[in-house]
Amino acid sequence: MKRAALITGATSGIGLEIAKLHASNHGNLILIGRNNDKLLSLASEIHKQYNISTYILCEDLSDIGAAQRIYDYVVSNNIKVEYLINNAGFGGIDEFYKQDINLMQEMINVNITTLTCLTRLFLPHMIDNRHGRILNISSIASIMPGPLQAIYYASKSYVSSLTNAISEELKGTGVSITNIMPGPTKSNFGARSGMDKTIIFKKTASSKDVAAKAYESMLMGKRNSYAGVGLLEKIVLYTIPLLPKSLVLRVTKKLQVKLKD
Ligand SMILES: NC(=O)c1ccc[n+]([C@@H]2O[C@H](COP(=O)([O-])OP(=O)(O)OC[C@H]3O[C@@H](n4cnc5c(N)ncnc54)[C@H](OP(=O)(O)O)[C@@H]3O)[C@@H](O)[C@H]2O)c1
Repeated sequence: MKRAALITGATSGIGLEIAKLHASNHGNLILIGRNNDKLLSLASEIHKQYNISTYILCEDLSDIGAAQRIYDYVVSNNIKVEYLINNAGFGGIDEFYKQDINLMQEMINVNITTLTCLTRLFLPHMIDNRHGRILNISSIASIMPGPLQAIYYASKSYVSSLTNAISEELKGTGVSITNIMPGPTKSNFGARSGMDKTIIFKKTASSKDVAAKAYESMLMGKRNSYAGVGLLEKIVLYTIPLLPKSLVLRVTKKLQVKLKD
């Protein structure tokens, strides 16, 4: 039985960098994305460079059945998932009442539903083997409500809350689950969400640095970790829950407004 790390959203940004890191540690990969051409070229590039086994699976993670199909694929190919990396996700700026209802559902399905179902499906095997690591990519957005990105921020609050709760349940099982909260990071996320036009994205961390911090935190079995966030920003983030909600909401909204070109 081959052992592997399963990575969702492996075709760009943070997921792609985590895939390369794991391959450089001689770990086999199951790469999930919805662009088959990108997956094929990535798998061949990684195989050539690191000589590991790479499986690819083209799935739209906004499809409610995606998690079960991924799990069935893994079982039917006799692969043991040692690392589950729930990385795929996206955001989008607009007032809540103007959001496209289909896109809104897609966001909830990718950021919340599929992540939850994959975690639920793969955990029992890990617990039986007393071995396994799960990495959930949340965001610093999980710490506060996000006017103008209400669904994205709420989805990341869900991820942080779910991950922390499960981590307590997993104590003593030999399995860990890690919640990573990246700050603004250079990837396709900024352009897709419209965040690249905001003041928050004036300074971004590299996907490579964020991936390295996330991967290391997962290997160490940490419960929570920031990535791509400086010391001063961390101090601000720690104080947010203590500040008046009206102030936090006002400032967060201002930070999401797109700057003029
Ligand atoms: N970049 C930031 O500033 C930042 C900050 C905090 C947290 N995060 C989180 O970090 C994670 C990775 O984002 P990133 O910055 O690396 O952005 P990215 O470059 O846009 O990568 C996102 C990945 O998710 C995949 N994905 C999105 N929707 C999908 C779907 N319906 N089905 C299958 N795959 C899908 C994308 O595939 P396609 O190329 O096919 O869309 C891509 O591979 C996300 O969960 C994001 O919320 C990012």
